[in-house]
Amino acid sequence: MHRLLPLLIAMAALPARADDAAALRVRSLAAQCAACHGTEGHAVEGSLIAGLSGMPASYFSAQMKAFRSGARQGTVMPQLAKGFTPEQVEQLAAFFAAQRRRP
Ligand code: HEC
Repeated sequence: MHRLLPLLIAMAALPARADDAAALRVRSLAAQCAACHGTEGHAVEGSLIAGLSGMPASYFSAQMKAFRSGARQGTVMPQLAKGFTPEQVEQLAAFFAAQRRRP
């Protein structure tokens, strides 16, 4: 049994690691938006570009889909939105929705 213990401990730690890896992946996706939309979607003060923090996930996903399809016009977003899979858009939507909007 004592030989199995380290293995059991390692197995117990696995789900947490998978969560961490997924969280890290979505953060690095979100970092690609920071230059214009602010860190973690907190709008840059004085910027004309909207913040993404606290944006309802359904609105976010709908905009990304509309940019991608051309239903919504834009300058950079139509091009950018094409670089993300629907799954990544869902992950980003959840990430930004979970950030508390700063006043
Ligand atoms: C180079 C600057 C730039 C980057 C980088 C950028 N955006 Fe944008 N974003 C804009 C601009 C400008 C608009 C207004 C629409 C347009 O002109 O394309 C916008 C609009 C949006 C909107 C619509 C906001 C609203 O209020 O309706 C969403 C959602 C969005 N961006 C998501 C993202 C996400 C997600 C990323 C990262 C993957 C990102 N943007 C990266 C410049 C940027």
